Amino acid sequence: MTTVAVTGAHGRMGKLIIENINAAPDMGLVAAFDIVDIGAPVGMGTGTEGVAGDVAVGIAVSDAGEIDSVLARTSPDVLIDFTIADAAVRNVEAAVRNNVNLVVGTTGLEPYQEEIAGLIADRVSAVIAPNFSVGVNLFWKLLADVVSYIGDWDIEVIEAHHRNKKDAPSGTAMHAAAVMSAVLGGRELVHGREGLSPRGDEIGIHAVRGGDIIGDHTVLFAGDGERIEIKHQAHSRQAFAGGAIRAARWVVDAPGGVHSMDEVLGLSQPIFYKKIE
Ligand SMILES: NC(=O)c1ccc[n+]([C@@H]2O[C@H](COP(=O)([O-])OP(=O)(O)OC[C@H]3O[C@@H](n4cnc5c(N)ncnc54)[C@H](O)[C@@H]3O)[C@@H](O)[C@H]2O)c1
Repeated sequence: MTTVAVTGAHGRMGKLIIENINAAPDMGLVAAFDIVDIGAPVGMGTGTEGVAGDVAVGIAVSDAGEIDSVLARTSPDVLIDFTIADAAVRNVEAAVRNNVNLVVGTTGLEPYQEEIAGLIADRVSAVIAPNFSVGVNLFWKLLADVVSYIGDWDIEVIEAHHRNKKDAPSGTAMHAAAVMSAVLGGRELVHGREGLSPRGDEIGIHAVRGGDIIGDHTVLFAGDGERIEIKHQAHSRQAFAGGAIRAARWVVDAPGGVHSMDEVLGLSQPIFYKKIE
């Protein structure tokens, strides 16, 4: 049984992750933290008085300010954090102090990267990823492999999200461009085109916004007389929650230090070369 604590228990991702833990026979929730909804029972029915899921698990949401004492008392194997960047750094500190492994999905951690790596060192094991979707991690991997063969074709990244998404382009699209640019030894990125804009050897990036699209990413490789499109489409946040749960199972047996989803998924080798058994 892997015992788990969740920070951001009242958030969209936190609720879904708690539902996943409650549904997993090999996992048990031992603590849940937030800065709102403190004292509310976890697992008493979504949208009513409880925080997530339909099964009562006998746990109330703890005040994030008391994370040290609650972690010390409950000794979880792993803490899953989907909060906000500065809170995530404090939660990582508390987990390391209490010898608890980590799965961190909070985004915007770039300014804190070195601090977090220094805190963790090899004291605990952590998986930190800006996108826990298995499909998106495979998508990035496919792009790196494909671009190594057809890097001289024209490359366009097209992403589509719901009308309420505030930032553009998406971090996933930017990471896709960065992965391909790195393989190609550096490429200029051109965001949209208007007026006279002759194509060079740039990677074009385009953001579409509308309706309730959860998140589509397409990379178009266009050559002479043919083209390839590689596309990922997210149907729900379960894509991220499922990946985080998979990382939580993996991290408890991993060596100390910070790990990526590539390692969790066994994608460290180019997948095109993987032997089919
Ligand atoms: N890596 C991925 O695959 C992935 C996927 C989806 C979202 N995210 C990221 O996860 C984070 C959360 O996303 P969300 O949609 O669930 O946001 P949300 O706003 O719905 O939830 C965040 C929760 O964290 C709580 N919180 C804030 N400070 C806290 C603290 N110190 N301790 C405990 N809880 C605290 C908030 O009260 C809130 O309930 C964001 O950074 C988002 O970008 C990552």
